[in-house]
Amino acid sequence: MSVHRKLTIGLFGFGVVGEGLYKILQKTPSLNATIKKVCIKHPDKKRNAPDELFTTDRNVLLNDSEINVIVEVINESEEAFQIVSTALRNGKEVVSASKKMIAEHFAELLQLQKETGLAVLYEASSCASIPIIRNLEEYYDNDLLHSLKAIVNGSTNFILTKMFEEKLEFRDALILAQQLGFAEADPKLDIDGYDALNKWVILLNHAYGIVEYRTLAGQMHRLPRRKILI
Ligand SMILES: NC(=O)c1ccc[n+]([C@@H]2O[C@H](COP(=O)([O-])OP(=O)(O)OC[C@H]3O[C@@H](n4cnc5c(N)ncnc54)[C@H](OP(=O)(O)O)[C@@H]3O)[C@@H](O)[C@H]2O)c1
Repeated sequence: MSVHRKLTIGLFGFGVVGEGLYKILQKTPSLNATIKKVCIKHPDKKRNAPDELFTTDRNVLLNDSEINVIVEVINESEEAFQIVSTALRNGKEVVSASKKMIAEHFAELLQLQKETGLAVLYEASSCASIPIIRNLEEYYDNDLLHSLKAIVNGSTNFILTKMFEEKLEFRDALILAQQLGFAEADPKLDIDGYDALNKWVILLNHAYGIVEYRTLAGQMHRLPRRKILI
């Protein structure tokens, strides 16, 4: 994706990540990127942005020829995949933070990226503020990596720190994490390891480069490594 081109963004999702992006772009005009339209799910929610920016009709964004980048940051993985694959087929580059969607559809996304030649960027999907994917691609591309070790889940990191440094019981550390907003009210995705699993699927693909997937007929396929970042 060229950094010099003006980016006209169609944004899917206006939650923690989507609204965060909106605020940053408002404060940073030098980025040469504007959000033309935002697609959300619940039209009656109060938003910290003008009403005319919002729609619940995804096609308004996906069929707008002026929009050249779709930023997808919703919290429903199958819907997210439909949005991202349609965007690519409609000639739009894609940025996504949806780790579950990316991990579950990695092989299909690679295929779509190959067919369209468009960028699919998802640095924010795995340990958002630490640039791991780009580091793996650009600096460790030809190095022999023996292993990757990390605590990749923020809630778990918080809970483990409280348990090891302050000797809290697991349950108390979890309640504290929930009270402080680090863990969801239903923390299953975090503490049962699913969030970490999704991130590792993505990171291990970029570190070691083999995508394995099973077809509906039960056959196993292996795609050779190919850079998804361009
Ligand atoms: N939060 C983080 O720190 C973080 C970090 C990295 C990655 N992520 C990933 O980024 C994504 C978004 O996370 P979040 O924390 O911003 O979620 P969130 O606060 O729950 O917001 C989700 C947004 O998606 C919208 N939405 C849901 N289904 C939709 C649909 N079918 N069509 C259009 N909009 C839809 C919701 O609309 P309404 O507002 O109308 O309900 C809401 O604005 C998730 O996949 C998450 O795993 C999050």
